[in-house]
Amino acid sequence: TKANIGVVGLAVMGSNLARNLASREGNTVAVFNRSYEKTETLTSEHPEAGFIPATTYAEFAESLTTPRTAIIMVQAGRGTDAVIDELTKVFEPGDIIVDGGNALFTDTIRREKAVRETGINFVGAGISGGEEGALNGPSIMPGGSAEAWETLGPILKSIAAVAEGEPCVTHVGTDGAGHFVKMIHNGIEYADMQLIAEAYDLIRRGTNKSPAEIADIFAEWNKGELESYLIEITAEVLRQVDAETGNPLVDVILDQAGAKGTGAWTVQTALDLGIPVSGIAEAVFARSLSSKPAQRAASSDLPGPSEAWTVNDPDGFVEDVRRALYASKIIAYSQGFDEIVAGAEQYGWDIKKGDIAKIWRGGCIIRAQFLNRITEAYDENPGLVALLTAPYFREALEGTQEAWRRVVIAAAQGGIPSPAFSSSLAYYDGLRADRLPAALIQGQRDFFGAHTYKRVDRDGTFHTLWSGDRSEIEAVASH
Ligand code: 6PG
Repeated sequence: TKANIGVVGLAVMGSNLARNLASREGNTVAVFNRSYEKTETLTSEHPEAGFIPATTYAEFAESLTTPRTAIIMVQAGRGTDAVIDELTKVFEPGDIIVDGGNALFTDTIRREKAVRETGINFVGAGISGGEEGALNGPSIMPGGSAEAWETLGPILKSIAAVAEGEPCVTHVGTDGAGHFVKMIHNGIEYADMQLIAEAYDLIRRGTNKSPAEIADIFAEWNKGELESYLIEITAEVLRQVDAETGNPLVDVILDQAGAKGTGAWTVQTALDLGIPVSGIAEAVFARSLSSKPAQRAASSDLPGPSEAWTVNDPDGFVEDVRRALYASKIIAYSQGFDEIVAGAEQYGWDIKKGDIAKIWRGGCIIRAQFLNRITEAYDENPGLVALLTAPYFREALEGTQEAWRRVVIAAAQGGIPSPAFSSSLAYYDGLRADRLPAALIQGQRDFFGAHTYKRVDRDGTFHTLWSGDRSEIEAVASH
């Protein structure tokens, strides 16, 4: 027998995805890994999967029915290019190569173009949900051609997570659209995690509750509008006790956050697109700051607030923090969706925002109850300019914004860093503002560089003769 789908790269994610595929009715799965050892381990540990192991790329191609479909699950970067090279040698026009790694979307655009020349389809597919998701049902964000989606769609639907009866996969758009949306997913993931971390820190330092007590608070929050995978696992992490010392594990873990780059990509891309994703950016920078031990050590005796910070009403404060978290979370998602809109426009993708919210409802790391509200908002109004202004979110902000302000004030007074809470609030107030001091910036720019400005009361482009008689002249816009 031949396989209808193959997996290349059998580290944890690849192995789990292969097992997931094999467990679905109608699939036979070919597997290949650069070193055969991993292939052997997988096939011998999972005889029930009925894998067809291959020792060479040629054998791998031979074991697949046409059009051949293979999912690459290797570390993003040069390894991916090497595998694509090998597969294009043994595949034929009409076959489909899927990159399921966390590739940078511009790499995917480049690869799709190059592979298309050979007549082979190339699909960059973001896959979210970690090891567990890969095995039991991830959220999948495929790009590539509509033709490839026809073959691939049913296979991906069979292994994806299911939310509200619908598989968490959709054809996001052409070429790099899938990896672009996965990148935004990860940016939101960073923001979500940072916001949760700030909430924990404020509660702990403000109320002196223990990690286990705070775990209970998060577990409680998980029953309400904040219900989400990340809140759920936060409770578990906070409850964990270190076997060696008997202390809460969170106090034993070195406080320097790692990052593999997808959060930074989201921000770099946003800068290029001119989209303010300040909450996501602060989350990325907060990880960078944490990982600068020399600067932190050198700064540790810098002056802080003169008075010790106390919270008079711990329960009220906890509720304020919950609301601040919800409000800031709305901002992070709203910023992420703004970046999707801008990316779609820049790269010519037809991305349906409502569909993205739908496929994030299950399987992925940022899955949350609240994504149903986003889906509804875009269903009701596909052209919604700012998520924040949808009736549900407007109401949510109305119910949270005062608590949010109290929390940011308390954090500043207490000297507790809350970059994501406070930058989200600043973003919110910036959007709301009738007038922004950007007018002054335009004046400064015109003063030192004759960059010109526009007026509120009539059309045209103007320059003030700052070094002359300060009269205003009509100017041709400079670029
Ligand atoms: C997912 C995750 C995953 C990502 C990790 C690591 O959607 O399953 O986003 O793809 O690789 O979360 O990210 P960092 O190491 O950068 O935190």
